[in-house]
Amino acid sequence: MYDLTQFSLRDMSECGLVLRHIGKNTNSTEEVSNRIINYIYENIVSENTQEKSCVLIRMFQTIPYEKLTPGLQEYASKLLNNQSVNPNLKCLTLLATAGEKPEWNLRQKSSGHKAIPLANKEAIAKIPMISRLIQQLGLDPGQVLEADPNLLTDLEQKMYNVFYVADALGSPYIPAQESFVIPFNIKSVIGFGGLLPSGNMFVVLMFLRVKVPRETIDLLKPLALAVKMTLLPFEQSQIFSDCQTEKISHKKEINKDKIIEQLQSENAALNHLLDVSEKSTLIQSERLEKALAEQQKILEKLQTTHAQLLHTEKMSSLGQMVAGVAHEINNPINFLHGNITPAQEYIQDILELLEIYQQQYPHPTTEIQNKIAEIDLDFIQKDLDGIIGSMKIGTERIYEIVKSMRNFSRFEKAEIKQVDIHEAIDSTLMLLDNRIQAKTYSPKIKIIKEYQELPLVDFCAGQLHQVLMNILSNAIDSLDESNNKPIPIKVRKNYNQIKICTKVLNEEWVVISIADNGFGMTEEVKKKLFDSFFTTKPSGKGTGLGLSISYQIIVEKHGGKLLCNSQLGEGAEFIIQIPIRQKIFQVA
Ligand SMILES: Nc1ncnc2c1ncn2[C@@H]1O[C@H](COP(=O)(O)OP(=O)(O)O)[C@@H](O)[C@H]1O
Ligand SMILES: [Mg+2]
Repeated sequence: MYDLTQFSLRDMSECGLVLRHIGKNTNSTEEVSNRIINYIYENIVSENTQEKSCVLIRMFQTIPYEKLTPGLQEYASKLLNNQSVNPNLKCLTLLATAGEKPEWNLRQKSSGHKAIPLANKEAIAKIPMISRLIQQLGLDPGQVLEADPNLLTDLEQKMYNVFYVADALGSPYIPAQESFVIPFNIKSVIGFGGLLPSGNMFVVLMFLRVKVPRETIDLLKPLALAVKMTLLPFEQSQIFSDCQTEKISHKKEINKDKIIEQLQSENAALNHLLDVSEKSTLIQSERLEKALAEQQKILEKLQTTHAQLLHTEKMSSLGQMVAGVAHEINNPINFLHGNITPAQEYIQDILELLEIYQQQYPHPTTEIQNKIAEIDLDFIQKDLDGIIGSMKIGTERIYEIVKSMRNFSRFEKAEIKQVDIHEAIDSTLMLLDNRIQAKTYSPKIKIIKEYQELPLVDFCAGQLHQVLMNILSNAIDSLDESNNKPIPIKVRKNYNQIKICTKVLNEEWVVISIADNGFGMTEEVKKKLFDSFFTTKPSGKGTGLGLSISYQIIVEKHGGKLLCNSQLGEGAEFIIQIPIRQKIFQVA
């Protein structure tokens, strides 16, 4: 079954194959024509409805008057007003027909098209479909009328084509609009045909209830060749099924020239078919190669997505864990932090009371004096304030860390909120504090902040943390790495620093710049920076996902920009540009 609205190369090859062999064990051109027409009629259907696409399909061939059956001769000569007829006069003869109405399934029942004498060019012009087809075959009507087939040999081997009327309604090429096109809802007409070595023309005409796309038309062309191949062996034999006399005599009449002519024609048609077949093989291979390349791309994308998902999943579980820990620490730390101030006040009170005691009783008992000496009361009085002060600072720091951890743990929620960018940067820095501090092998990293006042920005808070974490960790990695390099960096004005600047670019955008003065990167690395799995770090340390995920978050999910300026030996600057408002927010 073939659907003309989605006719494929495969359909073309399959249909062509059937048509080329459909003539086996048939005895006449009419019989083989019937098989061709019925096959097409039965097999061209709409895939959705299984309804046949042809309302009517017909095969015509030009046949010299003398070879027509007596009935057809009578019919043709009637059309010529019974004038004496040249035996070589070509008549466009209906050989096979199939269609919706019962009377369309028998050629003898056709009232207007049984055998139309093509007496002259004017007669051809009166059949617009046929004259159009002749034109599309690259012939002029004179050549079709031409009795001498020798002149046509060359043409015959080249000429095959498709005739196509995309819109049957109102088309000047399709007559019988009122009686046929409109009532039977004919949408388009396709004809294909060619010339036979005898100089006779064959044509298959399909009147369709579907519109056919342009691409299908080209694919139908080779079917004209297939039909021609099938008709060729019958060129010298019997035309009509019901004309016995012709059959008996034909073998004797065939001469060598005719056989050679037929073989040449077959050869040419086969060559054309081979061309078509080779071309379609090429097209198919190209398609296959393309499909394979696409598959490969999809596979890579899948692998990336998979890894990113895993990474995000890890980050999300990390977020959940951090949230849990933060929650557990939060209560005791609040407890400590909240009680330190009253404790300090109580101690202060007790110290003051002690002082009053000392003033009122300047000569305490020996036991008291011994105890004062033992505990070194003077030192306690001086030190206590300092101790409480540092306890206060300590709890405040833990309090800040817990706050950052809670901020960080908002990872799990992928919803867009109005986010304070500075708070996000600060809490990320807080979590990275351990890596920023001085180590035995490296000095403390100096963090320089140049914050301008920023509005709240529509962003998924957790994802912003993730981006900042990725970029800041990379900066720290790069500084660590450059500390370990034996050769000092070419330009290193300030030792180990990360400079974070924020500013409002205009009404729509804010910009965050994170610049380190680490080792920087080569042009090669810069090109691949945002590719998934690209890493220059040893395995176990680098995954090559940080920047690709960041790019996805900033560019693809939030419509922002993520750029990198860097030169080898001169550090790297990452610029994150984000829109202040997200579109969905504006609509809501
Ligand atoms: N600040 C930076 N300085 C120098 N190179 C960097 C910097 N940030 C990223 N890179 C380069 O980009 C690569 C990819 O980074 P990333 O996607 O975060 O993956 P990973 O950190 O796992 O290697 C790094 O391996 C590194 O070569
Ligand atoms: Mg990284």
